[in-house]
Amino acid sequence: MEQALTLGRPLTPFLPGKLGAAHRLAAEHWLGRSAEASPTSTNQDAQELPFQRWYRFKEAFAPRAVVDAIASLNHRPTTCMDPFGGSGTTALTCQFLGIRPTTVEVNPFLADLIEAKLSRYDVAGLVADYRTTIDRAWASRPDPAQIMVGVPPTFLEPGVNGRWIFSIEVASQILAFRLAIDALPDAKHARLLRVLLGSVLIACSNVIISGKGRRYRSGWSKRSVNRHDVGKLFERAFLAAVEDICRYGPRPCGDYTLLRGDARKVLTDAPACELALFSPPYPNSFDYTDIYNVELWMLGYLRNREDNRALRELTLRSHVQIKRCYAATVNSPLLREVIERLGAKRDQLWDSDIPEMVRAYFDDLATVLSGLWHVMRPGASVMMVVGDSRYAEISVDVGAISAEIAATLGYRQVERRSMRSMRSSAQQGGRFELGETLVHLTRE
Ligand SMILES: C[S@@+](CC[C@H](N)C(=O)[O-])C[C@H]1O[C@@H](n2cnc3c(N)ncnc32)[C@H](O)[C@@H]1O
Repeated sequence: MEQALTLGRPLTPFLPGKLGAAHRLAAEHWLGRSAEASPTSTNQDAQELPFQRWYRFKEAFAPRAVVDAIASLNHRPTTCMDPFGGSGTTALTCQFLGIRPTTVEVNPFLADLIEAKLSRYDVAGLVADYRTTIDRAWASRPDPAQIMVGVPPTFLEPGVNGRWIFSIEVASQILAFRLAIDALPDAKHARLLRVLLGSVLIACSNVIISGKGRRYRSGWSKRSVNRHDVGKLFERAFLAAVEDICRYGPRPCGDYTLLRGDARKVLTDAPACELALFSPPYPNSFDYTDIYNVELWMLGYLRNREDNRALRELTLRSHVQIKRCYAATVNSPLLREVIERLGAKRDQLWDSDIPEMVRAYFDDLATVLSGLWHVMRPGASVMMVVGDSRYAEISVDVGAISAEIAATLGYRQVERRSMRSMRSSAQQGGRFELGETLVHLTRE
């Protein structure tokens, strides 16, 4: 069973004395749902939580871990930053705790997912727009071959080498919903409906997503999914979202800032924050843009190879799946040592660019930490969860190296704690032996 990020100790009571009763109740009520399902905080039950169930993002924090991290501080922050938003767990949990979130996400589908979760809705208007979408979609039969012109050929029947991700019938129905959603005048409603349509795509497809990536289902060619199945799944997703919005719409904080783009660049536009709590991609060659790209292509976020390439260029240099520039100026004794050792074993590495990629990864982390330094108030905490990597039996101790780099940027280390987290299996391709570390710094 997958296990979510826990910070290595039992669930902390909800911020005793640091939050008002209303905030405590709002968060307790929300998280109480997973406590009913299981006594421990697992990623699986966290994924069943209201809002978190809108889209299964395997690398997400468990919201309880966010609560625990905030509870461990000796003050209650009023603002919190997550420069690698993912599915928005830190930001959403902060709203429940009455803390104003700022978050950054480079992947436009995930950015929409985050914004859909953090927004407030007029439910009657939302239901009306859903009905309009359904009526319009069932009245049309778009031709996928005409609309999905720049999409990789594997996406659409007849695919490549006898394999395809979507049948023509299913793709046509997905496109019918998508085009009806795109035509809605209310951008907020369209965003939520697009995200919910995105949440059913994998279930309608011939592939599954695991910690190791995307692969074809066993027996996929005998599996039959039709246009009505797409409609039923979309309806189910919508009803669940409406339930969550009705139950938990009014949260102690209804505000947020979402910066869409590259955290290495956009932090200059962020408001000042008292806490940063996040997990960057790990330097383990897990390429988010590739693995989560069914939604990007099917929902029209990507239209051609150039779009795809441009998005991948904006992501942290944590993988070698695309050839890119690995120029880096960052320096630290620990990093130098590991790069030298990797360089000496270059002929045993599965990709000869790995030493440069690892260096570039820390260069990117340094850029983000330096951007954060200008956003964080003096004395503010920066808590980041990082994961180690190993190439040719050489371990890359990401916690130690990033703490060493952070010290040169004006941060003081409060603690570095290793964590037990099977969540790492997703980011680490199913290998459990690699460590994850919570690096707690303060901005001096
Ligand atoms: C480990 S996930 C974060 C998960 C998050 N803590 C949650 O609970 O959902 C890392 C995220 O960083 C995003 N990312 C990668 N490169 C980025 C960049 N340059 N700027 C902003 N976000 C980036 C990825 O798209 C991914 O969603």
